[in-house]
Amino acid sequence: MTARILSGKEIADAIKREVADDVKRIETEHGYRPCLAVVRVGEDAASAVYVGNKVKTSEELGLISEHHHLPAETSHAELLRLVEDLNNRAEVDGILVQLPLPRQINEKEILETIDAEKDVDGFNPLNVGRLAQGQNALAPCTPAGIIEMLKRFEIKMRGRHAVVVGRSNIVGRPMAQLLLKEDATVTIAHRYSEKLAEITRQADILVVAIGRAGFIRAEHLKAGATVVDVGINNVADAELARELFSGSELEKRLNTIEKRGFTLVGDVNPREASEKAADYTPVPGGVGLLTVAMLMRNTVDAAVKRRLRKSLVNDARATV
Ligand code: GUN
Repeated sequence: MTARILSGKEIADAIKREVADDVKRIETEHGYRPCLAVVRVGEDAASAVYVGNKVKTSEELGLISEHHHLPAETSHAELLRLVEDLNNRAEVDGILVQLPLPRQINEKEILETIDAEKDVDGFNPLNVGRLAQGQNALAPCTPAGIIEMLKRFEIKMRGRHAVVVGRSNIVGRPMAQLLLKEDATVTIAHRYSEKLAEITRQADILVVAIGRAGFIRAEHLKAGATVVDVGINNVADAELARELFSGSELEKRLNTIEKRGFTLVGDVNPREASEKAADYTPVPGGVGLLTVAMLMRNTVDAAVKRRLRKSLVNDARATV
């Protein structure tokens, strides 16, 4: 069997088209464009790429974008003040503080300070709690994008066994909550799980977010499963590339290692997944692209909801 490849690009492009249409309609009918403020602190190389993509995509879709880049030595109090400023500015609809933050900054307190209504990352404990209660909430972009992708490829979730490997706040935990909301039977596995392969082999839907190149092998998979690979790992070792790829893909990967010094690889062995799974998401070209698309969706949704609530409150004030 050769698995169907689930293209994240196709779904991300569709979501972005819908968001761009919504932005145009909002501007025509309500006279504003949703605004996303992105904050980056320091010089983390991966963060620079991610934030660059977020700013560029928001501009392409017609949103207003603000990029705040602060020096690595920014104090906790300074960042806190910026977040409070953004909270207080009525024209800012979404606030995203890129993680990781430098060590002198208390990440937990920063995330708790972001106004829950503007929390387009879904990292504020109020939104995390809402999600845990099965309420509608701004949900973290990568897992929300995965749900959107599964729906659009018509992969059934209700009643099926979904296993999530990894329990991070950014992917694993919210992923499990969102799958539960879709009525899947959900198991979370992590680094201390015993007999991991026995657990993952039960998965009709397997989502892996652990940050270990090619860790999930054929022995971990149920034949015919849907495999969602969230890992993004740099592989510089040609020997490892030979274990993960074959044929023309291997040639391509070896060339990339030669030219760039590394190639991007997920947490799942792609050669073995393509032989055993029914469908799987490739790396790159899989779920990575969905994250930015869902951030745009969250920003527009946050704008509409907050501004509608504000205008209702103002209307109510005017009538008393
Ligand atoms: N760092 C890695 N992924 C993310 C994300 O989705 N949001 C933020 N803010 N930081 C990240």
